[in-house]
Amino acid sequence: MGSFWLPAISFGHPPKKLNRKKWGQSTFSEVDGGAGKRYAPFCERRRRPGCLKGEEPMDSTHKNRVQASFGPHARAYTTSAVHARGTSLARLVQLVAPQGHERVLDIATGAGHTALAFAPHVAYVVGLDLTRPMLGEARWLAHQRGLGNVGFCQGDAEHLPFADASFAVVTCRIAPHHFPDVARALREMARVCAPGGRVALADNVMPEDTAAAAYINDFEALRDPSHHWAYSLSDWRQLLQAAGLILEAEEVLVKTMNFADWVARLAVSREVVEELRQRLFNAPAASRAYLRPRVEGQEAYFELTEGLFVARKAERSRAAAPGPRHRPE
Ligand SMILES: C[S@@+](CC[C@H](N)C(=O)[O-])C[C@H]1O[C@@H](n2cnc3c(N)ncnc32)[C@H](O)[C@@H]1O
Repeated sequence: MGSFWLPAISFGHPPKKLNRKKWGQSTFSEVDGGAGKRYAPFCERRRRPGCLKGEEPMDSTHKNRVQASFGPHARAYTTSAVHARGTSLARLVQLVAPQGHERVLDIATGAGHTALAFAPHVAYVVGLDLTRPMLGEARWLAHQRGLGNVGFCQGDAEHLPFADASFAVVTCRIAPHHFPDVARALREMARVCAPGGRVALADNVMPEDTAAAAYINDFEALRDPSHHWAYSLSDWRQLLQAAGLILEAEEVLVKTMNFADWVARLAVSREVVEELRQRLFNAPAASRAYLRPRVEGQEAYFELTEGLFVARKAERSRAAAPGPRHRPE
C-alpha cells in the first residue's frame, strides 16, 4: 500500500509540520470525502440523520467521563508499561495469526498500541477512539515507528461508523470495561466483522464471586470514574455468544500492577490514593485473594487478571440474544 494522508481516516505518514497535539484533532466531522474511493465502503454509516458526519451524538454522561478521564492524561498511556508492553499485546497477535492481507479495526485504540502491534502483519489497521488526544498519541507513535498502513479516527464503540462486514479482524484491548453497553459494542464488532472473520479481545476480568467482582469494580471506579464494569470469564462467554460469535480461544494472563504508577496515570488526589490503598490492603478475603496486594521494598503492588478471547463470526450470522448486564444504565 502506498503512503498517503487523509484527514478523516488518515493513513500513511502525517506531514512533518503538524505537531503532536494537533495530530489528535482530525475527526470524522471535519471531512467526509477524505477516505476517498478506496475506503468509501467502510464509511457509509457516517451519515445518519441528526448526526455530524460520522459522529453519533456523544452526549451520554459516561462517555463525557471517558473523555474527561483520558483526554488530559493521554500521554501517560503512550508510555504506560501495562499498555505499551503488556503480555496481551503480542499474545493477541499470536492468537489471531494474521496472514498479511487482513483489514483490521482496533476499537478504543487509546495510544494505538494494539493497532501498531498488528500493523506490520496485516494490510492495514484503522484505530478508533472516543478521545481525541489519545488519537494524537497514536498518530505520533505510528509516525515514530514509520508505519504507513495505520489510520485513526474518532468514534464510539457502541455506534461504529463502518459498513457491515468491513474488517477481517476486529480488536479491542483493555477497554470494554469503559463501555456502558458492552453487549451493544460486541454486536457492533460482530456487525463490522466479515463472515468468517475474528473478534479478538483482551480486558481485565473479575472473579466469578459476585461480591468480590463488585468490590473490585468499585475499587477501579474510585480511581477512574470512566471505569464502568469489568466482567468475569463466564460473563464474557455469554456476551460473545449473545453477539453471535463463536469462542475459539480463551486465555488468562495475570499482570502485576505497581500501585504508585497506577494512581499516577490518572493523577488522582492524595485523599483518593489513601482511600484506594486502604481498600486494597483491607479488602475482604475473596477480593484480596484476587488482588494479592503486597509491599516490596518501598513499593506497593497488586495483581489484575486479563482475559483474552478470540471469537469467530460464523459464515452465516446468527441472531443476537441479550447478554448479562450487571450495572444499570
Ligand atoms: C486503556 S485505553 C485503551 C488501551 C489500548 N486499547 C491499548 O491496547 O493500549 C482505553 C481507551 O478506551 C477509550 N474508550 C472508552 N470508551 C470508548 C467508547 N465508547 N468508544 C471508543 N473508545 C472508548 C478511551 O478513550 C481510551 O482511549
